Amino acid sequence: MTAAPHIPVLLDEVVAGLAPEAGEVHVDATFGAGGYTRAIAATGARVIAFDRDPDAIREGSGVVADLSDALTLVEAPFSSMAAELAGRDAIPVDGVTMDIGVSSMQLDRADRGFSFQADGPLDMRMSRSGESAADFVNAADEDAIADVLYLYGEEPRSRRVARAIVAARPITRTAELAGVVRRALGHKPHDKKDPATRTFQAIRIHLNRELDELADGLRAAEAVLRPGGRLAVVTFHSLEDRIVKRFMRERSGGTPAGSRHLPAVAAANAPTFETPAKAVKAGEAEVARNPRARSATLRVARRTAAPAWVE
Ligand SMILES: C[S@@+](CC[C@H](N)C(=O)[O-])C[C@H]1O[C@@H](n2cnc3c(N)ncnc32)[C@H](O)[C@@H]1O
Repeated sequence: MTAAPHIPVLLDEVVAGLAPEAGEVHVDATFGAGGYTRAIAATGARVIAFDRDPDAIREGSGVVADLSDALTLVEAPFSSMAAELAGRDAIPVDGVTMDIGVSSMQLDRADRGFSFQADGPLDMRMSRSGESAADFVNAADEDAIADVLYLYGEEPRSRRVARAIVAARPITRTAELAGVVRRALGHKPHDKKDPATRTFQAIRIHLNRELDELADGLRAAEAVLRPGGRLAVVTFHSLEDRIVKRFMRERSGGTPAGSRHLPAVAAANAPTFETPAKAVKAGEAEVARNPRARSATLRVARRTAAPAWVE
């Protein structure tokens, strides 16, 4: 099956927030199909782009071949951004952008195992290494599966789904897992949202440690940005957006007085970011063109000169 090209979300808004200029160096932490990279490079800035998916890097090299001098592609998780940039003598940088989650290519290719709409091996590994979704659902105990579904999928009937998964083992295909979840929860043809959506999201986030990566990536961006450098982050659901929102609020000195949230750390450190602008959502025209944009939220913040926080 051929994957539809990934349409970059909130592209104009991301570029406006990053405000790249000729001669600057920007990090695209989530290269994907290179949509942001291409737009940033078009301003004359140099781009160092990360992706932990070997397919994205391999295909990306072809897609952006014309940018060769302006682009360095790095196959690595963005949590290792500081070490990778230090190794290239590229710190500090002028901008960092992160477009969190999966690309259309990953979702649409059945053999990657992310999709409950097309049958494929139950995989879901962005980096194609480590524990697969099949390893997880066939080996984890029922409580551990239920916790993952509840925490990362916000599945209200997580225990029921976990029980059904354990009873149906071994499960090796995405269609099998989707069928188990639909039967456990009841699936009416007119349901707006497939009941398997939450289970697939949860397992994907768990396996790829997506929320930990995001938190580590934000701290890495704080460490590598120069004073005045810009951070632009696009997320696709509330679990991710909450992490970005809290990080930017805390790092800009906005943690409410008396908050139990890291009070000692917040009191001991000067703000590393200016107060961020309001979050940006996609307009109607973009959502009509690209339904994926509906749930996207962009947050942008500008680095101050204060040293990165030590936690
Ligand atoms: C939504 S897509 C990015 C699309 C890109 N902005 C574009 O315009 O083409 C997300 C990409 O980030 C990659 N990714 C997700 N988490 C990552 C992480 N922690 N480190 C590196 N890459 C990651 C995924 O493999 C995927 O290719």
